[in-house]
This record gives sequence, C-alpha cells and structure tokens, in this order.
Amino acid sequence: MEEKNIVWHDTNITKNDRNSLLNQKPCVLWFTGLSGSGKSTIANAVERKLFNKSRKTYLLDGDNVRHGLNKDLGFLESDRIENIRRIGEVSKLFVDAGLIVLTAFISPFKSDRQIAKSLVGYDEFIEIFIDTPLEICEERDSKGFYKKARSGAIKNFTGIDSPYEKPENPQIHIKTAKNTVEECVDIIINHLIKFGYIE
Ligand code: PPS
Repeated sequence: MEEKNIVWHDTNITKNDRNSLLNQKPCVLWFTGLSGSGKSTIANAVERKLFNKSRKTYLLDGDNVRHGLNKDLGFLESDRIENIRRIGEVSKLFVDAGLIVLTAFISPFKSDRQIAKSLVGYDEFIEIFIDTPLEICEERDSKGFYKKARSGAIKNFTGIDSPYEKPENPQIHIKTAKNTVEECVDIIINHLIKFGYIE
C-alpha cells in the first residue's frame, strides 16, 4: 500500500472556542426513512423552528447534495455507502464548526448510519427514524419514482428492489401517519430541549 505522508495538525481555535462564541451545543439530527417518507419536509420545518430560535444550523439534503458534492454517485449499494460516508464526514466538520446539522438522506443501511454516528460522536448524533409505511410513500409518490420503479424503469429503488434497514433504537421515532408535521417538529424540538442541546 502507498505510504501517506500526512500529519494531523490541531487548530489554534478549538471546537469549544467556537461553541462558546455561537453559544450552542452542536449536534447532528440524522433523519432516515424511505423516499417520500417526509424526511425533507420535517427537517426543513425543524430547521425553520431552530432558525427562529436564533440557532445556527445547516441542512444537508440528499437530493441537493447529489447535485454537487456527490454528483458522481448513483444508487448502487457501493454508491450509497460512499454517499453516507461523505455525509458523515461533512457532518463531523460542521459539528466541529459549531453548527446544528440536519441531514435528510434515506441512509438505508444500519452499518453506514453506525459509521456516521461513530464519526460524529455518540453524544452528538441523534438518529431520527421517519417511519412512514411503504404503502403510504407509494401512494403519495410525489416524484412519480415508485411508479417507475414498479414498472422497472428505475432500478434499485429503495423499498422496491433495494433494501431499507429500519433503525432498531433511534433516539426519536416519528410516525408520520399518526402525527402532523407540526407535531413531528414539536417532538424533535422537545427532545433537543430535554437533552440540553437547546434551551
Ligand atoms: S441514499 O440511499 O441515502 O444514498 O439516498 P439519498 O442520497 O437520500 O437520495 C434519495 C433521493 O434520490 C431519489 N432517487 C432514489 N431514491 C432511492 N432509490 C433510487 N434508486 C433512487 N433514484 C432516485 C429519490 O427522490 C430520493 O429522494 P427522497 O427525498 O428520499 O424522496
């Protein structure tokens, strides 16, 4: 294997310095769920609420990140693994910068979510399962992708011919069939208050 001559440098300004300047406890709100489950809608509404509370945030959304940083990746298993690895690394940097990060990716594999969690840090990683049954996502089909996946026009579609591994112990379990978007947002914000991430 090629030898890599690289050495880690500590920065002058530390994460704690940045946290105290921003006056907040950074973390990652890691939304996971099927396509069309409501990840982006709820993550956007949570970010709005945090913004209104003057919290400094950044939302990384699957569709958007795949237009730029990850535009070289598709939906094969190896591409999804790399997608989530990069998002884990970016989230780690943004948490280091002091931000409350919201990520909205299907992130279908448990092992990849686990890797992201260990990269970011256990205390700073909040897994949020947006639990919407496949039948409901398929009924909504806002982008028409489920129909195409059923007809075979799109291959490797999550929930149809590509797996989704449900989280076993998410910190927050949201059932969108039972709660309105507003109620889902309140559940998440109350969790952040209860565990001291925000006041
Ligand atoms: S992953 O599995 O975490 O790498 O996926 P992600 O980066 O979140 O991208 C999911 C969005 O891409 C669209 N799309 C697909 N999803 C699943 N499977 C296949 N084959 C696929 N092709 C395109 C889809 O619109 C997803 O958007 P969301 O917001 O999840 O509905």
